[in-house]
Amino acid sequence: MTHRLHAEGVTLRYEARTIATDLSITIADASFTVIVGPNACGKSTLLRALSRLLAPAAGQVILDGRGIMDRPAKEVARRLGLLPQSATAPDGITVADLVARGRYPHQSFLRQWSRADAQAVSLAMAATGVADLAERLVDELSGGQRQRVWIAMALAQETPILLLDEPTTFLDIAHQIELLDLLAELNAGGRTIVAVLHDLNQACRYASHLVAMKGGVIVAEGSPGAIVTPDLVARVFGLPCVIIPDPVTGTPLIVPGSRKESRP
Ligand SMILES: Nc1ncnc2c1ncn2[C@@H]1O[C@H](COP(=O)(O)OP(=O)(O)OP(=O)(O)O)[C@@H](O)[C@H]1O
Ligand SMILES: [Mg+2]
Repeated sequence: MTHRLHAEGVTLRYEARTIATDLSITIADASFTVIVGPNACGKSTLLRALSRLLAPAAGQVILDGRGIMDRPAKEVARRLGLLPQSATAPDGITVADLVARGRYPHQSFLRQWSRADAQAVSLAMAATGVADLAERLVDELSGGQRQRVWIAMALAQETPILLLDEPTTFLDIAHQIELLDLLAELNAGGRTIVAVLHDLNQACRYASHLVAMKGGVIVAEGSPGAIVTPDLVARVFGLPCVIIPDPVTGTPLIVPGSRKESRP
């Protein structure tokens, strides 16, 4: 298994609060890695460390054989893109201008806006269905429209590795599936995808590699079919459940237990 990105025994901390200690994870090339776990367990913190936004207090994240903190931000941004969990757009920016910012890492004093940039932006807007919104102000969009614009910006960056923190938030069910199918398509084309998802059934459908976290610790990882059991769901989420094969894909389908069920 080859990999370009991994974390080696990292300690992740916000000032005095330690979120994870001695955490290691390898992101296999061309995998579709999905991270699941309860609120506040450290998923976003891990993604921030993997994308150079958060410097580990100990250990290191290695990208292409070198410590990620030792690489300039722009160089990292050409290899790896991050869709953060909550992003704020600059005031008064249009959709087309925001998506175009995804091309920033590819530009320099000598290499100004090019046809390749314009093409990447229009492809990304088409793929996420926001082309019709191009001239609208980002502030004036619905939550789901705005989320798709952010995804377009991350896609326009055209990085071999794409990290997405809850990319399906705000999307209706059809748009959720459309987005996950788009990510699966990019993945089939060789891109490495890492996504944090809350919907366990979607996670099981799309992940080639599932990572379950709790309290800053990776509790289990592997293919969904191999690791998702009622015991794991109980351990990670404290939720009783029944697991059946997904009638469409055969992957694990988690049916939450009911509190009522246990009543006499
Ligand atoms: N900037 C920050 N400063 C201080 N503490 C933070 C900061 N960001 C997150 N935390 C804390 O770190 C812990 C992990 O947060 P994180 O955002 O990584 O959780 P998460 O697993 O992504 O949760 P969610 O599912 O709710 O998005 C939480 O206790 C949170 O309060
Ligand atoms: Mg989060």
